[in-house]
Amino acid sequence: MKFNVITLFPEFFESPLKAGLMGKALDGALVEVSFTDLRAFGEGRHKTTDDTPFGGGAGMVMKPGPVVAAIEAVRAEDPETSVVLLTPQGELFSHERARTLSEERSLTFVCGRYEGFDERIRAFVDYELSIGDFVLMGGEVATLAIMEAAARFVPGVLGDSASTEEESHSTGLLEYPHYTRPREFRGMEVPEVLLSGNHAEIEKWRRTRSVERTAKSRPDLLEFADLTPEELAAVKIGAPE
Ligand code: ADE
Repeated sequence: MKFNVITLFPEFFESPLKAGLMGKALDGALVEVSFTDLRAFGEGRHKTTDDTPFGGGAGMVMKPGPVVAAIEAVRAEDPETSVVLLTPQGELFSHERARTLSEERSLTFVCGRYEGFDERIRAFVDYELSIGDFVLMGGEVATLAIMEAAARFVPGVLGDSASTEEESHSTGLLEYPHYTRPREFRGMEVPEVLLSGNHAEIEKWRRTRSVERTAKSRPDLLEFADLTPEELAAVKIGAPE
């Protein structure tokens, strides 16, 4: 899978992309990343990439000329790439979106800084994504998050391919609690059932904890989760009559 990143700060990505499994994926050429320095497409003597907003108001706006020129330069090299604009106004990124993006051969991320993008830039992108209901100082952190989440679905990037199947969000529920050695830590015991070797009981216990945890931390997810009537009754939403 190929990622291109259009940014004013290519250096921002240096150390995060060296670390851990992402570093390994790059070393092993399972994932490839290239950068386009947006400043090179800036206008005038100062290589300007932003300007004041028409109509007034605070902050600066990314100019369309440099951003669109950078997108066109990337597309000239990589015509099939899908271009992703990172903004808080975009579609909310999710585990499912990470999976579908990972099926693309190439993605190009457009990172802005300042207050936002000139609206006309949107005509030149394929998707617009947000990583949450908060405002970052730019699209770089969002790009890293999306690259990492998508790369996890690329075959070979995670050692154990089952890991993307059971984790939080892949089932529509949050993941169950995990334990490892020691059996007792500061007075807290590992639940007995996990030591029992009874796989059916373990599975049942994990499912119940998953439903409980989702009801507590993310009740909004329950609406779309595939729960049995008993599970629904247990979390007290839409309990059967
Ligand atoms: N740029 C600034 N805030 C953002 C967010 N929440 N998601 C994606 N890109 C952003």
